Order: sequence, then C-alpha cells, then structure tokens
Amino acid sequence: MKAFVIQHYGQKKLELMKVPMPAVDDNEVLVEIRAASVNPIDTSTQRGGMKFLLHYDMPLILGSDLAGVVIKVGSSVTNFQIGDEVFGRVNKNKIGTFADYLAVDQSDLALKPINLTFEQSASMPLVSLTAYQILHDMMKIQPHDQVLIQGGSGGLGTVAIQIAKRMGAHVATTTSAKNEGLVKSLGADQIIDYHHENFADSLHDFNFVIDTRGGKTLRDAFKIVRRGGQIVTISGIPNYKFGKTYGLPLWKQMLLSVASFRNTVLAHKTSVKFDFWFMKPSGQQLMVIKQWVEHGSIVPVVDRVYGFGDTQQALDYSNTGHARGKIVISHQI
Ligand SMILES: NC(=O)c1ccc[n+]([C@@H]2O[C@H](COP(=O)([O-])OP(=O)(O)OC[C@H]3O[C@@H](n4cnc5c(N)ncnc54)[C@H](OP(=O)(O)O)[C@@H]3O)[C@@H](O)[C@H]2O)c1
Repeated sequence: MKAFVIQHYGQKKLELMKVPMPAVDDNEVLVEIRAASVNPIDTSTQRGGMKFLLHYDMPLILGSDLAGVVIKVGSSVTNFQIGDEVFGRVNKNKIGTFADYLAVDQSDLALKPINLTFEQSASMPLVSLTAYQILHDMMKIQPHDQVLIQGGSGGLGTVAIQIAKRMGAHVATTTSAKNEGLVKSLGADQIIDYHHENFADSLHDFNFVIDTRGGKTLRDAFKIVRRGGQIVTISGIPNYKFGKTYGLPLWKQMLLSVASFRNTVLAHKTSVKFDFWFMKPSGQQLMVIKQWVEHGSIVPVVDRVYGFGDTQQALDYSNTGHARGKIVISHQI
C-alpha cells in the first residue's frame, strides 16, 4: 500500500512510499481509508515537537483522523463488520492515517454519520472529541455559563463553538475580522478581532476559557475568569498534574512543574482551576458526536480538500496557522 512517511524528525517533506499492509490484531479492524484530516499535531510530530510526550519508531506514517470502510475484522471484534463505514481518531501510539489502509482498535471507531461524506466525517474526530472532553467532561458546562474559545475559526474552534452553544453556553471567541461571519454562523455571541483588541480588555467574569494559544494569551486568560472558574489549555506547556496523570517519568514531571510554574502561581492567586488537556480517542464519545451531527446540531466546517497525492501541500497549508475549519485529504479525488 502507499503511505506518506518521515524517516526522521525535522524532515521537511513527507515521502510517498510503498509499505507492507498493516497486520490486524484481534481487537482491530482494517480500514480502507477514504479520507483523513490534518491537525496541527501532524506537523508538530513531523518537526519533532511531540517527542517529550510521544515516542515513535521511524519510518513513521503521520495522520490521526480517518474515515473509511472496514475490509477485515480481528477475531475479537464485536462492534463492526466488513463493509461498515467508520470514522475515528486513532490511538496516539498507532497513528498513520496518511495511507491507503490502517489497522485500528475497535474502541477508537464509530459508524460514520449517515448524512456526511467521508471527507466531512474525517474532519470531525480529533477536534470534536477534544471539544467534547473539555466542555462536557471537564467543565460540565451549564446553560448560561460564559466560555471563551480562543481561535474560533480553526479546526478546534469551529466545532467547540457549536458544542458549547448546544450545551447552552454564552460563547465568546477570538479570530480575525475576515472570519467574523463564519464564527457568528456557528453561534458565537461575542467576537473579538485579536489583531485589534486584547480579549482581556473587554471580557470579565467568565466561567471558562479554552486556550488554544499558550504563552501570554494563556496568562491573560487568568484576568477574565472569575474565582472558582476554569481554564483548560490544549496548547500551552503541560503542567505537573498532567505529567503525573499521563504517566510521565518523575524527571519529566519535575521539568513540567518548573516550566509551567508561572501558570500554576497565577491559578493559585486567582483561585482558578487550571488544566492542560491532551485529547483521548473514544469510539463511544464519537457515537454522541455522530448523533448530534445527524440531528443537525453540529456541522463540520471544511476549509480545503486535497487529493491524497497532495498530502504535503495539505500540511503546508495547516502550517500557515490560518485555516478556516478543517483541512481534509481525500482518496476519492
Ligand atoms: N491537546 C490537544 O488534545 C489538542 C487537540 C486539538 C488541538 N490542539 C491544539 O490547539 C491549537 C488549535 O488547533 P486547531 O486545529 O484549531 O488549529 P488550526 O485549525 O490550525 O487553527 C487555525 C485558526 O487559528 C486562528 N488563529 C491564529 N492565530 C490566532 C490568535 N492569535 N488568536 C486567535 N485565533 C488565531 C486562525 O484565524 P486567523 O486566520 O483569523 O488568524 C485560524 O482560523 C493547536 O495548537 C493544536 O495543536 C490540541
């Protein structure tokens, strides 16, 4: 089969190679990939930026999100059968969706939404699971809670706005003026053009912030959250608490403790709960997302679709940091 691989971290361009078909374990299904989507973690992994958290052997096939058709099932698989159309974010230890086929644990997959194409379906898993796990599991959003979602026009933001609105929240978001119409159409109540305004000057007393930027933007978030509120960053430096839960060795936990010390102090001073979150694959939670999509309460936002042969161009576009929604790679064009 064909796959896009890197031979080492820092490799500028992916290589298209012929590689053996994946072996299928008892709990896995073999998926013929019809579409994959690009996430910033792909280019970050390519650069070697995830080495602290994730270990990969080379050569490495990149890609975390897929939609496709089950063509083989392992002996212990009970959830799927040959011919099922599925979508999912694959386990971080077994990535490789920029390929023709991938063996995927059945617990990471769900049947794809019936009203979506493979391309639209592949755009959903990583970002919708991240948003769901933060807004539903961690923040437990209640109607009228005020939540700021940084970067509302990105892959994560476009779905997080919709899920937060579905849960009844008041949603503020940051983006550029050119994306105002997009985030408004997704339900954003307050829109801040980050080029001309600092959100910390206009927002006060918020319950929650999803931080997608880290750095000063994350530190400024502590100015707008009320005591007892919560900030979850998915982009800043992970903290000690995350390192411990993630099972990192003690020396790495200590490093994180030092690196995130400023944020830990801010959280303590402001009495705001502060967490770093790294999303987890979940076929069960994707079933919830599938239902919401089929009821029309959330819709995928796809910016560009590239052919499989143009996977590097798709990653280059992601690297600009200015996608409007998701970037998809299709085997069907
Ligand atoms: N930890 C996790 O589990 C997890 C999961 C998902 C994502 N993430 C991280 O979250 C971040 C966002 O992911 P994504 O998929 O949404 O990325 P993305 O799709 O590449 O985000 C692009 C969007 O970000 C906006 N943007 C750029 N600079 C901004 C700024 N300073 N303020 C506000 N918006 C800005 C851009 O709008 P303009 O064009 O208007 O600038 C663009 O629409 C990435 O760092 C990603 O790695 C982490």
